[in-house]
Amino acid sequence: MDSMRLYGVLRLVVLAFLVLPAVVLGGSSTRRCKFPAVFNFGDSNSDTGGRSAALSEVNQPNGETFFGHPSGRNCDGRLILDFIAEELKSPYLSPYLDSIGTDFRHGANFATGGSSVRPGGYSPFHLGIQISQFMRFKSQTEALYNNQLDPSRKMPPVKSSLPRPKDFSKALYIFDIGQNDLYYGFQYTTLEQVRLSIPDILSQLSQAVHQLYKEGARIFWVHNTGPIGCLPTRVINDRSKPGNLDQNGCVKPNNEIAQEFNGQLKDMVFKLRAQLPDVALTHVDMYSAKYALISNAKNEGFVDPFEFCCGTYYIDCGKKEIVYGTVYGNLCQNPSRHVSWDGIHYSESANLWVANRILNGSFSDPPVSIREACYHPKNL
Ligand SMILES: *[C@@H]1O[C@H](CO)[C@@H](O)[C@H](O)[C@H]1NC(C)=O
Repeated sequence: MDSMRLYGVLRLVVLAFLVLPAVVLGGSSTRRCKFPAVFNFGDSNSDTGGRSAALSEVNQPNGETFFGHPSGRNCDGRLILDFIAEELKSPYLSPYLDSIGTDFRHGANFATGGSSVRPGGYSPFHLGIQISQFMRFKSQTEALYNNQLDPSRKMPPVKSSLPRPKDFSKALYIFDIGQNDLYYGFQYTTLEQVRLSIPDILSQLSQAVHQLYKEGARIFWVHNTGPIGCLPTRVINDRSKPGNLDQNGCVKPNNEIAQEFNGQLKDMVFKLRAQLPDVALTHVDMYSAKYALISNAKNEGFVDPFEFCCGTYYIDCGKKEIVYGTVYGNLCQNPSRHVSWDGIHYSESANLWVANRILNGSFSDPPVSIREACYHPKNL
């Protein structure tokens, strides 16, 4: 073997060692986070049963596509949060507020339907309350491990249904909240008042991140707010005003406010990264992902995105009315072809469509998938 050929062979061997692991392990999947727990803060977009446990039950036909029964979700099936859990190979998150049959070993869900960042609004469980609940959850978990639980408890909690104290700093903390602050504002105040309320909403959201940081949280995944002006209930309300709808049929003034909120949210994210240099904070542009689906619904196999499957403008999802022998409020034939499930909440198939696009990082800053969200950008 002459030296040139030997060199060639050696080069191949070296190359094989360099390239093979990446091929075998599938490139970037070598950099895969293992989140021992997930904690979620939000509203009905990510409520997996909190509102049902604490306030009023979500009724049939919610849940009929996937769970086969009402699961506390305002949806025919799974939410984006459920697809996040699936992607992370984690069980679906139990609602913190449910005292029966819950398992918090891999995290807890503090989201409840109707929640806003600021107090007031549609639900008592605004973000500040959700953060207080988390702090209580964490301190009680630590007390259990330190044998400091109140001895008067009839049934002390078991470790196997709670995270370990060291899991809190490695957990993923998800936020999807703010839509109800805007929605409530549209309903009860003027557009200008809603616009002026944005800095205060975001300052309270930022405060929540700081509070979790003090508790040891380091990895955050923050969804911005969706195109609220594309929700069928908003469109029905506002379509009569001339010039109010954009080229896709969404209410322009509402979406402008959502975009203003999102612009300021992005600034907040940059500020938080500067204030808390050791956090890994991924910002997810939910607005663009959802708008991409709505503006392209027909090509993506969906019916008119403003038609919804369950209920009508006058009849809530789950109720029916009979007028002169005709039944109103029947369910649509095929929920999976609808973007909107009930006029406010997305269908499972729309949630899956959006999840497929946001989880791989194509709407994220930094542009990393959720599996890599634990890495600080400077280590990517
Ligand atoms: C993410 O997935 C979507 C849908 O499958 C695809 O169109 C997009 O190119 C992917 N993006 C990345 C960054 O992998």
